[in-house]
Amino acid sequence: MSINTLARPEIVAMKPYSSARKEAPGQGILLNANELPWPLLDNGGLDIGLNRYPDPQPRILVSRLAELYGVAQENVLVTRGSDEGIDLLTRVFCRAGQDAVLHCPPTFGMYRIAAQTQGAAVVSIPRRAGEGFRLDEQGILDAVATDDRIKLVFLTSPNNPTGDAIEASYLLDLLDAASDRALLVVDEAYAEFCCNPSATGLIDRFENLVVLRTLSKAWAAAGLRCGTVLAQASVISLLRRIIAPYPLASPVISLACRMLDKKMLGRQQQILREVELNKVRLLSILENRPFIRDLWPGEANFVLLRADNSDDFLTFCAARGVILRGYPADPMLTDCVRISVGSEEDLRALESALDAWEAES
Ligand SMILES: Cc1ncc(COP(=O)(O)O)c(C=O)c1O
Repeated sequence: MSINTLARPEIVAMKPYSSARKEAPGQGILLNANELPWPLLDNGGLDIGLNRYPDPQPRILVSRLAELYGVAQENVLVTRGSDEGIDLLTRVFCRAGQDAVLHCPPTFGMYRIAAQTQGAAVVSIPRRAGEGFRLDEQGILDAVATDDRIKLVFLTSPNNPTGDAIEASYLLDLLDAASDRALLVVDEAYAEFCCNPSATGLIDRFENLVVLRTLSKAWAAAGLRCGTVLAQASVISLLRRIIAPYPLASPVISLACRMLDKKMLGRQQQILREVELNKVRLLSILENRPFIRDLWPGEANFVLLRADNSDDFLTFCAARGVILRGYPADPMLTDCVRISVGSEEDLRALESALDAWEAES
């Protein structure tokens, strides 16, 4: 069965927009895109003048990302962060009022937002709150086997905010169960912080697998807005039908290429080691605090905890300039607080806020 049968028929049938730069990549006397011939600003170190539209999928960037993630170039779509990848998938595979996405809360909120924006239903298979937010593996398999509306299954590994990673053996079971029925989207935004192997190694075997990666976390470039969808070429070509004509700005392309130069890999590995050490330090700061009732260290660059009086605690920390993440609107995360692994200086400020809170309460 082709993946096209799972996509919205109108997207498969549609003749996609063809931008000027796609038809004639930027070389020669360029009089085909209604651009001005000169930039107002000088190039500021960019490879292309700001007066020109950028390449929609720059070859150098695609090849660097393909190498980084260990896949072929045809398996790569570069996007404006993973958020755009989630949105594209939902728009290509979910018909409004008919199809559904499956997610496992508590988890990253954009799967639900993208589905609701598209008019798709959201099937929730909640994590087991009493068992450390363990994934309900059988519940997901049952839903995929029985609910024909489900076209996308979003799993996050490691998950935000619980930090747990998914075993490869389970992914294989789910990919088989979902075959011809739904796509499995494994969001690996935090994969570099975790020892589990990436699901990218399974892409050649499964047409219904999509992996999302991003430069926002372990590459320390959230401001760049650069993410990657990895999947078989058939899936990538469906997403290319609806992606904006120029999703990546020239400065983004230029900076992303510089960042992914081989010379930078050593520095990135060093940053990852620093995060690992600072996480150990963060956990030691949180140890033996009577107001912390539960702690989930997880496998990413943050921890989740449950605290007494969490609203007051968050306000108290914020008044001291330490901003933590609470979940007041989420009943599954009552009194939970997520803390990112910061710098040594950040951790010192956090420690003194915790000491002061303990002394006052
Ligand atoms: C699990 C997960 N996926 C995706 C994203 C968004 O990533 P990006 O910055 O690439 O849009 C986040 C951001 O917090 C996240 O936690």
